[in-house]
Amino acid sequence: MKMLAAPATVLALWAVSAQASTTDDIAKRLEPVGQVCVTGQECKGMEVAAATAGGGAKAPKDVIAKHCNACHGTGLLGAPKIGDKAAWKERADHQGGLDGILAKAITGINSMPPKGTCADCSDDELKGAIKEMSGL
Ligand code: HEC
Repeated sequence: MKMLAAPATVLALWAVSAQASTTDDIAKRLEPVGQVCVTGQECKGMEVAAATAGGGAKAPKDVIAKHCNACHGTGLLGAPKIGDKAAWKERADHQGGLDGILAKAITGINSMPPKGTCADCSDDELKGAIKEMSGL
């Protein structure tokens, strides 16, 4: 039996390397995984999002990086800044908490575009991003 196992492994390895014709190809294919998991924290966020919103949910940090950071990273157009908990809390306090500002984020408010430009984000995914940005 041992004699058979070894050639099978070699064959499997060969099949993999035959599919990826160059090491560049392999690197490209691994890229998305590397980007998401490289700091460890993002992987954690993804587990949480997956647990609350079902499989395939977007990680809060990905949503923020792709959609929210452009404005909320610098406070562009008067957007509350990422990590400025006081600014977010002030808004939340006046609008019925996290769910209140989530509702505004979904419909849009003034210069804040509906869903913060993440048209295919679920409410839960937006909420995750808001939680992450606000620290609330
Ligand atoms: C084009 C710039 C822009 C982008 C992109 C953007 N925002 Fe905003 N956001 C704003 C601005 C400006 C405000 C402040 C609006 C106001 O009160 O006048 C705001 C406010 C908010 C608020 C507070 C709403 C309230 O009720 O006070 C939330 C929550 C929010 N954004 C979430 C998000 C999320 C989540 C994303 C990414 C998915 C996002 N935003 C992307 C500009 C942006």
